[in-house]
Amino acid sequence: MVEKENDKKNKTNKEVIDVLKWFSDAGVSDISVDINTVQRAAKQSINTLAELKEAMRKVEISIKDCALNMVFGVGNEHADILLLGEAPGAEEDRQGIPFVGQSGQLLDKILAAVGLDRTKVYITNILPWRPPGNRTPTLQEITLFRPYVIKHISLVNPKIVVCLGGTATKALLQTTQTMTQLRGRWSRIEEISAVILPTFHPAYLLRSPSQKREAWLDFLTVKNKASAA
Ligand code: URA
Repeated sequence: MVEKENDKKNKTNKEVIDVLKWFSDAGVSDISVDINTVQRAAKQSINTLAELKEAMRKVEISIKDCALNMVFGVGNEHADILLLGEAPGAEEDRQGIPFVGQSGQLLDKILAAVGLDRTKVYITNILPWRPPGNRTPTLQEITLFRPYVIKHISLVNPKIVVCLGGTATKALLQTTQTMTQLRGRWSRIEEISAVILPTFHPAYLLRSPSQKREAWLDFLTVKNKASAA
């Protein structure tokens, strides 16, 4: 019993050390995130998506004061494929559903092109609240929510996580490598059993349509791997 408790403590301490290492690798020396909050989140006993949603709603973070709705997740809660985006935009904030704006419409087209749709995948984001003016999430915001993202993935328990864009990829893999280095390459992290494939964010594809083929190939690979597993 005592051994189990010690194992748990060591695991939580390791998670916090990993976060701090990530900050230092990213060149951040002024860390204003409350590590106790991150530690508390990692320790909470959460066993269902409904419990997770409630726990996330209670996280104290200033961006929620500017948002209309919390955007949790959508799709098949038992899916083999989980898509992880960055943060809600204006339309997602209005509707409380991930990827329902322009990026979402492109995402739906890419999914359809490989024979998938929202009944076959689960979709969520690194942040559940829209950052004001659609700015990129800060390292502090990402760090605060990362334990919840890990929990979210663990509860859905997919075989594959597709990270949409650099923010989701870097946050999940805790890496400072670029998307050029990471896109289309399978990765793993200790905290989840799924394999991870970074690909382009649909918003980037709207700006750079010539990259759509690469994204389509990534999704084709994902679909084939999910069917083979
Ligand atoms: N972009 C994201 O990363 N997530 C959304 O839900 C919408 C746009």
